[in-house]
Amino acid sequence: MFCGISRRAWRTYSSSALSSSSTTIPPTIKHLLSFPPSVDSLVKTQGHVKAVRSFKNLHFVDLSDGSTHSTLNVVLNGDTNINFKVGQSVSFVGKWVESKGSQDYELLYDSTENEHKAAVIGEVPESYPIQKKSSSYQFLRTLPTLRHRTSSLASVLRLRSFLEGSFQRFFEQNDVIKVSAPLITSSDCEGAGEQFIVEAKDSKPENPFFGKPAYLTVSTQLHLEVLSQSLNRVWALTPCFRAEESHTNRHLSEFWMLEAELSYIESVHQICDFTENMIRYVTQDVVQSIANDLAQSRYNKDERQAMEANWKTILQSEPWPRITYTEAIEIINKIKNKGRSKGRLTWGDSIQTEHEKWLAETHFKSPVFITDYPKAQKPFYMPESENQNSTVACFDLIIPGIGELVGGSVREHNYEKLLQELKNRNMSIEDNEWYLSIRENGTVPHGGFGMGMERLVAFLSGMASIKDVIAFPRTPGSCSC
Ligand code: 4AD
Repeated sequence: MFCGISRRAWRTYSSSALSSSSTTIPPTIKHLLSFPPSVDSLVKTQGHVKAVRSFKNLHFVDLSDGSTHSTLNVVLNGDTNINFKVGQSVSFVGKWVESKGSQDYELLYDSTENEHKAAVIGEVPESYPIQKKSSSYQFLRTLPTLRHRTSSLASVLRLRSFLEGSFQRFFEQNDVIKVSAPLITSSDCEGAGEQFIVEAKDSKPENPFFGKPAYLTVSTQLHLEVLSQSLNRVWALTPCFRAEESHTNRHLSEFWMLEAELSYIESVHQICDFTENMIRYVTQDVVQSIANDLAQSRYNKDERQAMEANWKTILQSEPWPRITYTEAIEIINKIKNKGRSKGRLTWGDSIQTEHEKWLAETHFKSPVFITDYPKAQKPFYMPESENQNSTVACFDLIIPGIGELVGGSVREHNYEKLLQELKNRNMSIEDNEWYLSIRENGTVPHGGFGMGMERLVAFLSGMASIKDVIAFPRTPGSCSC
């Protein structure tokens, strides 16, 4: 079965799709190539022209519809009176035949056959900018409505779609329930003040729409914590918004965060184990199911090799190393900064992206968990580390080339301790009353994490910038459509 259609039903499916009054949706190119119709049957197909080639009276059109990296070869025998151009959307009715070329099958249009049809559905101007030769990703970003027609960017969007299903499977197998959290919130989960304000266009400052200041969420963690207390384990994949002036290849103003909250968790290593299993699971799934689609879509050999090397890095047989923040500082000073007085870190300094990348790429050559950061560097909800009161029970997962992929922690579930931490940080008790209240009503030890979906997609596809793995990137100064 495929798309709910059995092989036996194929004939009916394809022939009914030929009729213009049919209510059956037409087959995709992926479907036609995966479940070929019978040889010599009449088949209708549609897509965009990817390439046109001519030899004497024979013309070839490579047709692509985005459902797969593969194009369908249409052979035109005789004249169609159509000037086929790259980018046009076209439709053909012709005979399904075995191919003499690299594909198993192709569509043969013969102008002498009455039933055969060729038509242009959507014309393109002479200046149509997506041509067969590859364009730089930077140039493609100037074409926000067309860039997804390129093989590379289309394959990345298919990867995203596949990954969502894979995460769903992983979480289902682990009894983690998918929930939705609000995108509009009155809280600042991370306490960094990087929020976008949400207000009705016409409201007066003294009469805010929600009765109090409201923001686009920076992380759904706090709401997931509430739900984890009722459902044991929950997860969500949600857009998150950050008003940070970061002009890098790994920051977006709107990005998707995959977050999970797990009850009855007492140690940060339980969350690290779970996170590592999850990322290994989805990577294995990608390699098993869509590696070919991804590899064929990358014409650039270096990009393809980098992508495949990234898969190997994730799937290495050794467990990913785990070090504490204190150990990370020691390694950076002893090895990276050996003999140099400049650039040495002292305990309490932030580990910069440059250090993180060095640790994962050069030192460990592996994803690496850094645990137990200084309390002052992390948000209010993290409890102290075991036997330590200057660090908190948290981790960042660092991966080569990207830096931080996941951030997570145990959550403080003790009411008194959490209240005290809010006071220590001069945070509003009133605004956080709702969050505190879960610690007063059958509180449960728990912990969780958040992973930047675009950063994972960039790593698994080998793309250099996360702006190229989201359909419509939003960054400071850029929101073109
Ligand atoms: O480390 P962060 O800020 O953690 C949190 O927000 C926690 N409340 C999550 C949780 O525990 N539920 O963000 C988590 C991840 C980062 O590791 C990074 O991968 C991604 O979100 N991220 C971004 N991705 C793209 N653009 C940005 N501006 C990002 N900021 C964070």
